[in-house]
Amino acid sequence: MENNYKLHIDGLDEKMEDGVPNKHIILLAGTPGTMKSTVAYHFLNENTKQNDTKGLYLTLEQDKDNFMYHINKLGIGEPAENLYLYDLTTTREQWLKLDKSQAEKVDDANVSTKDLETLKRQIETLKGAIGFDLLVIDSLPVLEMMFKMDDPRDELFHFFKWLKKLCVTTVLVTEMSQDSPKYSKHDVDFLADGIIKVSMIPIGPTKTARHIQVVKMRGVNHSTDPFELRYSNNRFEALKVIM
Ligand SMILES: Nc1ncnc2c1ncn2[C@@H]1O[C@H](COP(=O)(O)OP(=O)(O)OP(=O)(O)O)[C@@H](O)[C@H]1O
Ligand SMILES: [Mg+2]
Repeated sequence: MENNYKLHIDGLDEKMEDGVPNKHIILLAGTPGTMKSTVAYHFLNENTKQNDTKGLYLTLEQDKDNFMYHINKLGIGEPAENLYLYDLTTTREQWLKLDKSQAEKVDDANVSTKDLETLKRQIETLKGAIGFDLLVIDSLPVLEMMFKMDDPRDELFHFFKWLKKLCVTTVLVTEMSQDSPKYSKHDVDFLADGIIKVSMIPIGPTKTARHIQVVKMRGVNHSTDPFELRYSNNRFEALKVIM
């Protein structure tokens, strides 16, 4: 497949051939605070620095200012030229890098009924305006809360099919519960082409470490081992776990 995308995590990229295949739908799953949003943003930011790749980060969970405060504090800095951030958390959406007429077009697609069809129309309008190749939706559980679904299992199945037809590479951030091994609600695990899990692991009684694991990645010969995830100076690193 053409256009694979590296995670830009040293030590893990080397363990998954050329990276995430083009047009895959990936679940990035983890318990709260495991740096899911940061990993997803870093993936988008690094990949949009290159070539003609454009990316859209759709935040449903944290408003744009709050999110950018976190990103800036981590030293990741200003978004790459081709990275667009769209904030769905406020009633009046905030925009980064879209001009007024483009923003109005997406506002027009935002009718009062908040169902998945509304969201699909907004994403399609953004695709028309930006022409993005990479999409992050942060997060799936908030999407399920924000958009009315009569039959979530069935509607999410159709949402995945619709995402496939959008022909972009998608990262869906999803929340795992502390006491369940499930990567997502409503059995969407099998619909995803890839699952990346981030977790917080206790090391003895006084220490914890973050772990990252590529649980599945269709079409890629990858390691399924967990690695210790470290972040410093705008760089993610995955280290072999020593027991
Ligand atoms: N400078 C820093 N270096 C390393 N880690 C940091 C730094 N600043 C914050 N963090 C960690 O990043 C975490 C938040 O990252 P992020 O928002 O990406 O996580 P998340 O998994 O998306 O969280 P949530 O479950 O709230 O959505 C904080 O809980 C904190 O532990
Ligand atoms: Mg988050």
